[in-house]
Amino acid sequence: MEEFEVTPWEVRGKVDYEKLIKIFGTEKITEEILERIRRLAGGELHVLLRRGVFFSHRDLDKVLDDYEKGNGFFLYTGRGPSGPMHIGHLIPFILTKWLQDRFDVNVYIMITDDEKFLDEEKMSLEEASKWAYENTLDIIAVGFNPDKTFIFHDTEYIGKMYPLALKIAKKINYNLVKAVFGFSGSTNIGLIFYPALQIVPTFFERRRCLIPAAIDQDPYWRIQRDLAESFGYYKAAAIHSKFLPPLTGFEGKMSTSRPETAIFLSDDSKTVRNKIMRYAFSGGQPTIELHRKLGGNPDIDVSFQWLKMLFEPNDKVLSEIEESYRSGRMLTGELKEYLINKINEFLEIHRANREKAKEILHVYKYEGKLARKMWESPFT
Ligand code: TYM
Repeated sequence: MEEFEVTPWEVRGKVDYEKLIKIFGTEKITEEILERIRRLAGGELHVLLRRGVFFSHRDLDKVLDDYEKGNGFFLYTGRGPSGPMHIGHLIPFILTKWLQDRFDVNVYIMITDDEKFLDEEKMSLEEASKWAYENTLDIIAVGFNPDKTFIFHDTEYIGKMYPLALKIAKKINYNLVKAVFGFSGSTNIGLIFYPALQIVPTFFERRRCLIPAAIDQDPYWRIQRDLAESFGYYKAAAIHSKFLPPLTGFEGKMSTSRPETAIFLSDDSKTVRNKIMRYAFSGGQPTIELHRKLGGNPDIDVSFQWLKMLFEPNDKVLSEIEESYRSGRMLTGELKEYLINKINEFLEIHRANREKAKEILHVYKYEGKLARKMWESPFT
């Protein structure tokens, strides 16, 4: 058994991402692909790409070929509304928005209230719907183009998806999902059917679908890729991110049931401060004297890694911080203070956008150009 495990439901141990590429059979995102994206995107790369947070892919090169040939592509991503969203959950949405802005493409966002109802023993359907609404506000706050984005809740949109879900489900047998997802004899039959549904949006257009998500969702795309061509659709392409590590260290992933592991989008500035100060795993030395003498280790310091992965896009500033922390000039408390300010600035803007999202939710779900088209006649 590997010393770590990644499934759509669980991350155990410290993930070795190089190894995961081999286990999952995906491709590494090379400098060459990054250069191509930079060129096609108008000369710049998003920090999540530049710093290797998105590190692996399937058929990303083919997506870029299609784009260059003028065939275009579309984006698909999603969220399982199990509770409040944390900052890690936002990572795929942030890149999706950037890709939409740069490539001017359609975005489909699936909110799987059904999946979370089925998956979480204590979750009622009403509660899952409530979280679907709350999470949708957080997603809209990221700033997608309202004319080119369709956000749908499974329990509402199921009627349109059901014919395609059936066709997909008929081609997947129990042994396959058991092997891919580890289902057992006691898994409820709703969850056994669910993978067919998560695959449906990859067939929303007869162009290549690119899916930004963390690598835990890849098992779905593996099944999709075995089926797609028999339906006359493209194999889904994917771009996989690493996990923003839990505050408490690099083991496992952030968890809603352990609030000390995560910063939630709903955390106020005081909570952010308390959590970072108390829980953010530090690469610093136990005393100031030792720290000044020996320096800190940014490679294992969660605060530094959060800055590197998302919160300090300025390369020059980041390398100054790294150097200063490593040399012992910057103390753990100062590093944490810097991160706290960055997160609170980010959340303040997010909260304001989230308020505005309440006014425009109906556009993304029902009334935008793409939303109307999807309710009228999906699957072009
Ligand atoms: P969910 O709600 O578990 O996660 C939502 C998205 O966030 C990613 N993610 C993370 N990314 C970075 N750092 C983390 N710590 C972190 N934790 C989670 C997930 O990979 C995901 O992209 N079944 C899905 C919902 C879904 C979906 C999709 C996701 C339906 N269709 C298409 C992606 C693409 C789920 O429960 O995601």
